[in-house]
Amino acid sequence: MRDLDAFLARAREATDRALGGALDEILARAPVSLREAVSYAVMGSGKRFRPALLMAAYQTAGGKDPAIADLAAAVEIVHAYSLVHDDLPCMDNDDLRRGQPTLHRAFDVQLATVAGFAMVPVAAASAVRGVRRLGLGPAQGRDIGLLLFRAAGAGGMIGGQVLDLLAGGQAATRDEVAEIEARKTGALIAASVEIGAVAAGATTEQRGAYRAYGEDVGLAFQIADDVLDMTATSTQLGKTVGKDAKLGKPTFPMLLGVAGAQQEAERLAERAVAHLAAGGVSSPLLAALARFVVARRS
Ligand code: IPE
Ligand code: IPE
Ligand code: MG
Ligand code: MG
Ligand code: MG
Repeated sequence: MRDLDAFLARAREATDRALGGALDEILARAPVSLREAVSYAVMGSGKRFRPALLMAAYQTAGGKDPAIADLAAAVEIVHAYSLVHDDLPCMDNDDLRRGQPTLHRAFDVQLATVAGFAMVPVAAASAVRGVRRLGLGPAQGRDIGLLLFRAAGAGGMIGGQVLDLLAGGQAATRDEVAEIEARKTGALIAASVEIGAVAAGATTEQRGAYRAYGEDVGLAFQIADDVLDMTATSTQLGKTVGKDAKLGKPTFPMLLGVAGAQQEAERLAERAVAHLAAGGVSSPLLAALARFVVARRS
């Protein structure tokens, strides 16, 4: 799609504005060092892919209110907190994130740890603010809260992170790797898509199509991340490459080779688009985003 870059730029701008507003409002009374640490983690140069997906699903399902950016910001803050903790010495022990020293390197481990915890309620407050400003009813508000925090929790992202940590240095089957990746990364991406659809008032049947699309895009996104860890440079990615091999993480490229994993990611991206079509949803924008995930070089 020709206009994908323009859409991504607009989504980024709207998200960054909502993120700045959320931090200013919700952290107004926090100690200065905590505010600085959270701002460093949140306002860095991430791709804002989850917000873009959420806004694309919202737009596709007929939503038009710019306050959707508050919900996009809520998802992005959960994602940013997960990166802060993922980089800690007790987890992946990374020094570089989004082209800058990781939070615990720029500040210290103690502040990075508490900053990660502090970000979760900021995300919750941003979600509540979005629900209120969008004028959504109690059922939609409840669904959005559940989608976001179930995806972030033990059944989704954090459960996946635990499985990922336990898998270091172990052999794993393809199904096991798929489960780790679908949970640690896919869950929040799938929730982003579904939240956008729910906020726009999508029907139950349409919601199912958006969810199936989001799950496939989410797994494709993580497989692409694993491929890039083996094929890209640290400058391109803004994070240290070669970490999965170093930490002995079982990944798709390790099981299928780089070309095989890339093909699998492409297959999932196409299947994601097919799910939308099967649910009666036609969206060149969501199709372009699914393909962007597997073609990206950063
Ligand atoms: C990195 O996510 C961690 C994964 C879940 C693969 P992103 O690639 O979306 O990171 P940013 O937000 O652009 O930094
Ligand atoms: C991160 O996965 C997943 C979560 C933060 C939940 P990775 O460990 O693969 O992400 P990168 O490669 O450090 O960005
Ligand atoms: Mg990790
Ligand atoms: Mg990591
Ligand atoms: Mg990775």
